[in-house]
Amino acid sequence: MLRVVVLVSGGGTNLQAIIDSVNNGTITNTELVGVISNNYGVYALERAKNAGIDNQVVSPKDYPSREAFNDALLEKVNAYNPDLIVLAGFLVVIPEKMIDAYENKIINIHPSLIPSFCGTGYYGLKVHEAALSRGVKVSGATVHYVDKGTDTGPIILQKAVEVKEGDTPKTLQQRIMEEAEWKLLPAAINMIANRS
Ligand code: GAR
Repeated sequence: MLRVVVLVSGGGTNLQAIIDSVNNGTITNTELVGVISNNYGVYALERAKNAGIDNQVVSPKDYPSREAFNDALLEKVNAYNPDLIVLAGFLVVIPEKMIDAYENKIINIHPSLIPSFCGTGYYGLKVHEAALSRGVKVSGATVHYVDKGTDTGPIILQKAVEVKEGDTPKTLQQRIMEEAEWKLLPAAINMIANRS
């Protein structure tokens, strides 16, 4: 069984897609052992609770320095003894120490076709604002391994999604989630859980 910890910051629709996929057998050989949020009060935590998954908050606001937060985050992750860490809308820069400790064991979902609209400053709706400003006709989502750069690690899966006339950042975000993210992230986890 692949022990998976999911890190979240917000609404947690990708977390929900993972939970549903484990429950309906789209993801096999996988146990969701914990969910950690860097923000209090986010709906992702409710989703974890509803699914009976251990969940907690590790907020930078509770620590005197970034380093102390980074150390606490790594400690909480380590306590789950995970085989895979999934960043599902986790909008925190992953500490180098964690990347060293979990080389090729951290994956991220990004809501564009990397290398477009990625890197520092491109997260959440900002990605879709940038895609619409540039006038691209196709965007999508990418699941990739996390290395020390921002959105630079090896690509695991990508899926293209059409941009439609009249799209707003929100409509484009929603279509990319429905058509790409919610399928791609569970598919990547299942691949990793079942590789020989
Ligand atoms: C998702 O669109 C995810 O791809 C994005 O944040 C959203 C989180 O939504 N992640 C990034 O932009 C990472 N750079 P969710 O909380 O509903 O899963």
